[in-house]
This record gives sequence, structure tokens and C-alpha cells, in this order.
Amino acid sequence: MKCNLTLTVVCVALLFSGCAGDTQKDREIDSARSLGEETGITMPGEGEAGMLFPIIPRPGTVVPDEGFFVLDSGTKLVTNDRAVIEDDLALHLTSIIERECSVELKCNLVPGAPPSSGCIFLDLDGDTAVMGDEGYVLTVAPKTVTMSAAGKAGLFYAFQTFGQLLATASLESRDDPGSRRIRCCTIKDRPRFPWRGQLLDVSRHFLPLELVKKNIDFLAALKMNVFHWHLTDDQGWRVEIKGCPELTRIGAWRVDRNDEPWVGREPQKPGEKATYGGFYTQEEIRDVIEYAGDRFVTIVPEIDIPGHSRAAIASYPEISCDNGAYTVATGGIMSENTLCPGKERTFEVVEAVLDEVIALFPSEYIHIGGDECNKSAWEKCPDCQARKKAEGLEDELELQSYFIRRVERIINSRGRKMIGWDEILEGGLAPNAAVMSWRGEKGGIAAASAGHEVVMTPHSFCYLDLKQGDPELEPPLGYAQCRLSTAYSYDPVPAALPPERAGCILGTQGNLWGESIQREEHAFYMLFPRLFAIAEVGWTPKEGRQWDDFVARLEPHLLLLERRGIGYARSLYNVSVTASGFVAGKGVEVSLSTEHGRLPIHYTLDGSEPAASSACYAGQLLIDRSTVLRAGSFRNGVLQGKVTSKEIPVHKAAGKPVRFKNRWSGKYPGGEELGLTNCRLGTLSFHDGSWMGFEGDDLEATLDLGAAMDVSRVSLGCLETQNSWIFLPEEVQLLVSLDGTSFTSAGSKACEASRKQPESRKVRFTIEFPERRVRYLIVKAKNLSRCPVWHPGKGQRCWLFVDEIIVE
Ligand code: ACM
Ligand code: ZN
Repeated sequence: MKCNLTLTVVCVALLFSGCAGDTQKDREIDSARSLGEETGITMPGEGEAGMLFPIIPRPGTVVPDEGFFVLDSGTKLVTNDRAVIEDDLALHLTSIIERECSVELKCNLVPGAPPSSGCIFLDLDGDTAVMGDEGYVLTVAPKTVTMSAAGKAGLFYAFQTFGQLLATASLESRDDPGSRRIRCCTIKDRPRFPWRGQLLDVSRHFLPLELVKKNIDFLAALKMNVFHWHLTDDQGWRVEIKGCPELTRIGAWRVDRNDEPWVGREPQKPGEKATYGGFYTQEEIRDVIEYAGDRFVTIVPEIDIPGHSRAAIASYPEISCDNGAYTVATGGIMSENTLCPGKERTFEVVEAVLDEVIALFPSEYIHIGGDECNKSAWEKCPDCQARKKAEGLEDELELQSYFIRRVERIINSRGRKMIGWDEILEGGLAPNAAVMSWRGEKGGIAAASAGHEVVMTPHSFCYLDLKQGDPELEPPLGYAQCRLSTAYSYDPVPAALPPERAGCILGTQGNLWGESIQREEHAFYMLFPRLFAIAEVGWTPKEGRQWDDFVARLEPHLLLLERRGIGYARSLYNVSVTASGFVAGKGVEVSLSTEHGRLPIHYTLDGSEPAASSACYAGQLLIDRSTVLRAGSFRNGVLQGKVTSKEIPVHKAAGKPVRFKNRWSGKYPGGEELGLTNCRLGTLSFHDGSWMGFEGDDLEATLDLGAAMDVSRVSLGCLETQNSWIFLPEEVQLLVSLDGTSFTSAGSKACEASRKQPESRKVRFTIEFPERRVRYLIVKAKNLSRCPVWHPGKGQRCWLFVDEIIVE
């Protein structure tokens, strides 16, 4: 009973750690757990099943049984199917067992029925109609383990499930590493979707093959089967093409500007040597393809054309519109990066590239990008305009479609299918194309409705280059936000899709774009734990997914990541603060929560570090004076994530009405009329709902305090996120009045708003003056109005973002 009890306790300790704030649900499950400890077998509810069989992605069904199978050096591994041994399939299981239990087993061919005791039996006699190629049945009984599948992939996935049971059992105890007790059960499992993928971008920064292989290992362990390799972009061409050697001789290298912000980087200067980058030889790629194939992962190569092609036109200027002297991009965002569809030479190069790519990669699908194609060069190019005329094309969108259709013919004529980002719908979709929907779901719905195959990867759910939590608590990787729970909540079959077209949805994938991914630890931090969520979204039926149950199963895997030295985001443990805005006569109502949802939150209101001995959050707080709230979630007295700090300024203008000369943008309304006096400060995330945005316009806000008051300090909070075209104001001015008609200046603050600032930051403009009686105030903030010349949006309207006017 020792291991049974220990496993339960470990997992329960992970999950529950009581304080007065525990919910009723916690207590119910807690008592179910106690029951389980007494009887030794439990299956009281979904959450408990998650704890006992912490398998990700969650299998179709898990039926627990009494007892344990003990795996040790005396265990026999057998099959009655030669294919299991011949293709080294069984080696995957023996290496898992060796890794997890330091036990070396060898799989033997034993015709007929398996031996009856101490045996793991592998068979490929499963019913294809029931299991498909990827399904399996895993039965753990006290004397035998049976893994049964109809296809090799299914058997491989049975190994992965068994491996997870071994690994999580190892969390119980390290006392006897040569033996492992696995709880008895029957697991029946098969995937929901055939495409369960992840993109890795190796163009923005060249990433080593060891990382690529490690990434593939993680995909395989999570039963994911597509590795989408983004091999080309503006910042580097990474695949050797023997017929076009310049693509890697020139296109694989750029100058290192990694200490400058990604946007607005200095381009390569004349005479400067491009030495930062790299590429993979075809031999190296063949090795990775084989490695992935052994793990039932298909590598889908992406050659991103006709946009995102700066590295290509730097290598072969004759395939650009103007034959310009281009250099490989040092950062983003590019506008002069487009292939010329007016020139036949372009198609010769594209065909030569695709010929070699198709010969190299066995994938049924070849990804041709097609996204974010800047067409301004086409408008000025005589060859492009001649092409439009000759082909009867209305506009540049139709020219893009012409290009993509020709590329599709090249791919189809070699027996492969083309897939591209949803922009390939513009100007008319190529006849057989599959679509990868990233700009939301609209493109995917349109393509699937027309009967095309679709992979759903809308950025707000599936982009792994987005931060996993509050940007103030996250490392400087990525931008914006896609929380673990957001990734987990995704359903790849959109509600708006006609049900008869649901079969067009091949599946889903997560995309790890590489702008900020320079090293392995960056990649793994951004992948984890979201890759667990994406794996489950792709594998497990929608009705089988439940957040609390997922978190319960996830936590042992997080411990295993730690044990393997893999750094991951612990953002699900960080406390989020939700403030109501100022409620007259009361103050600000504040709620605290974590994504995890089941751990006690301890907080302080005096700015001090919270500890397990600090006040335990038990429900909404009412804040009626300026406060620095600090909070964290704790387990067994230990802080789990980071400490969240939140300033809640309750000041003289709290809840007071404001008149605006210019209305805020409908896209960023903040708290609207009361947005600047609601005591809510914004975070570094510009779309957190606290920021009020003005596009090109100034802020001019008139406040009425309701009565004359002594005032000596007024401040305006602003955000600077130049990557998102948000700049500080050039000047902030304050005018004050007692009667509301005659105003006098109380001061101003100037700012050099147009100078480069790489990181996002909040700046508070404070105007102090000798204390005076004031009832009315006018706060003006002058918008820089146009992006500066060095900015990618030069000359276009820029944003002013403000959160609160604090009057003291
Ligand atoms: C993309 O994110 N441009 C596909
Ligand atoms: Zn052209």
C-alpha cells in the first residue's frame, strides 16, 4: 500500500493546501481523497482520476482497477509480431523503461499467447475500425501489461502513455529506482484530430539541431505528430538548396543587432560583414526527418513566399521587383521583402527550390507561407503590371492569387498538397489548397465551408510567442498575452462552421515564432506548459477536457520538467488582481485569483512581502485608501509563482466625472467616461482594459472634483510601447480653476516622445505646485500624432495611451 498512499499524497499535496479560503469544492474532493487513502482504490470523480492517472493528453477512457503491476529487472517484454521488433519500434519502449527505472529490457518474439506472469505484451492485432492508426488499448493488470494497437503509431502512443505512468510513479519515491509500481487500469484511447502540430521558427534566430530534436521528442511524448519547420523568412534562409547556393551563402547570414529592439533595428551597413545565422545541410535535414519519422512526427517544411522573402531577394536580387541591392533583415518589420510574380525567373527559382524541398521532405503537405505579403513593390513594378494585364488580373490580390496558384501547380504536379496561411484566400483560393487559419478563425471557416482542409491556429489561442501571464511578471520574451487557460480553452472546430464541414478541420497547432527566441531556454520557457494544453486540445474530445482536471494532471509533469532541468513558465500560479473601479461611498472592490484556482492566496496591503502567515484571501476586498497590494499563491507555506504588486490609488478625483474634448478610440476605451478616475492603473499590456487610447488625437480632460479641495500634486499615467505604435505625449499640461471658467496654468512636463525606447514602460507625468484650492482641472496631453521617421510606421498616426489622473 505504500506506493498507493504515497502517490495519492504527493498529488494531493500538489493540489490542495488548505487555508480559510478553501472552497466547498476543495473540501468535498479532499474528503473523497481521504476515502481513497483508506481503501487504496479510488475513482470518486474526474479530478481524482486526473491525480491517479496524470496522463496528458487525457485519454478517451481510463478505468482503474485494483492492485499494481510491478516493473523490475525480472519483467519480460514480449511480442508475437515480428514488425514490433524489426522496425525498432520496441526500442522506444525499452529506452523509456531504461530512462524511468534504470531497468534494461529486451523485447523478444514469442509466437502464440503471452507468458502469464511478469510480462509486458505488445501486439499489433488491434481492430483498425475501432482504434484507427493512432489509437491503442493499454491494460495494466497485476501480472501483465498489454499494449494493443492496429497501427505502429498507436503502439508508439501506448508506450508514451505507459512512460507517463512510469515517470509520474517515479515522483512517489526514489528509494528503489530499479522497481516501479504501476496502478492497474484499462485505457482506451485515440486522437480527435489527425493534425496535432507545433511550428518552430528558425529563421529569426538560427536554432541548433539538438534543440530541434529535443522539441520533436516533446511532441512525440505528447502524441503530437506534426513539426512545422518555418525555415525561411526575412531574417534568414535555413535550408540548403543545392541548385540555388546563394540562398544559404548569402541568405543564411545577417549582422548581429540582437542588442537593439526587434523593430527599428539598424540595417546592415555597407562594408559590414554578415556573420550571425546558419543553415542546415540537406544531410542534416534528412537525419532530422528520419529522427522525427521514427517518432511518428511528420516534418512539414515552410518556404515562406512571396512575402517574408527578404533573405531570398538578398541572395537573388533578380527575383525582386526592382533588382535592388538588398541585405538580409536584421529585425522586423520589413516592407521590401517580396518576390516578383511578374518575372519568369522568379518561378524558375521557386520551382528549383520546391523541387529540392519535395525531394527532401516526405511530408504530404508543403507549406508555402503566403502571409503578410507587402504588395507595394508590385504596384510600381512594370513586370508585375504587365503580368496583371496579360492574365486579366483585377488587382494585386489577384496577382497574389496568380502566384499562389502557379506554386500550387508545381507542388501538385509532384504529388504533394499545398498548405498556406489564410492570406492565400485573398484574391481567390487555389483549387486544392489547405489553409492554416491564424488571423482568427474567419479564414479557416471560409476555407472549410468551401470544402478545403484547414488547420486552425488562431493567434490569440495558439501563438506560443505570446506571453503566458502579466507582462510585468514575465521575462522579456514575446509580446501581448496567451495564458495557459486560454490555450486550453480552444476548440478547433468553430461553432460557426456548418456541422457537415467539421471533417475539413484537420486539427490544430501551436506556433513558436522566433523573434525573441535566441536560445533553448527561451524556447522551452515559451513552449511550457502551453504545449501540454495544445496537445490535449488536438487529441482529447472536447467533452473530455476540463480545466481543473487538466491542472491536476499537469502538475506532476511540471515537477518532471524541473527534474529534467527544463525551465517553464509558472504564470498559472501568479495572482491576478481584478479591480471594480471606484464605487462611491465604498472604495475599490478588488478580487484576487490565479489560473490554478485551487491554492490559497496570501496578501499584504502595506507593500510588504506576502508570506504564508499573511492574510489569506477569502473573498472580495474593499480598498478605501491608496494601497499597495501584494499577493502570491502558496502551497505548504511556499510561494508558488511570483508576487504580484498592484498600486490602487484612491485619490481626490476618484469616481469624479470627466469631460473629454476628443473621444477615445473605440478599440481602446479603457473605463470610458470614468476611465481616468476609476483608481485602476494599467499594466504593461496595452489591451488589459485599463488603458484608454487616442489614435493621433490629443487628450484634453476636464475634471470636476465636486467641491473646492486643497491640491498640490496631479499626475497622468501613460504607456510607451513603440512596437505597437504607442508613444508618450510630447507634453502634459495642467490648468486649474475654482469656478470652472477661469483657468490658470499649474505647470507642465515636456517629453522627448520620439526617441527610441526598446522596452515597453509606464511613465507617470507628475506636476507639483504649492498647495492651493482647486475644484476644476484640465489635463492636456499632446499626442506625438505621427510615428517618427525611424519607426516602421513612419508618418502614420500613432497612439497615446493613458490610464489615470491622480489628484492629491
Ligand atoms: C503569421 O503569423 N504571419 C502567420
Ligand atoms: Zn514585380
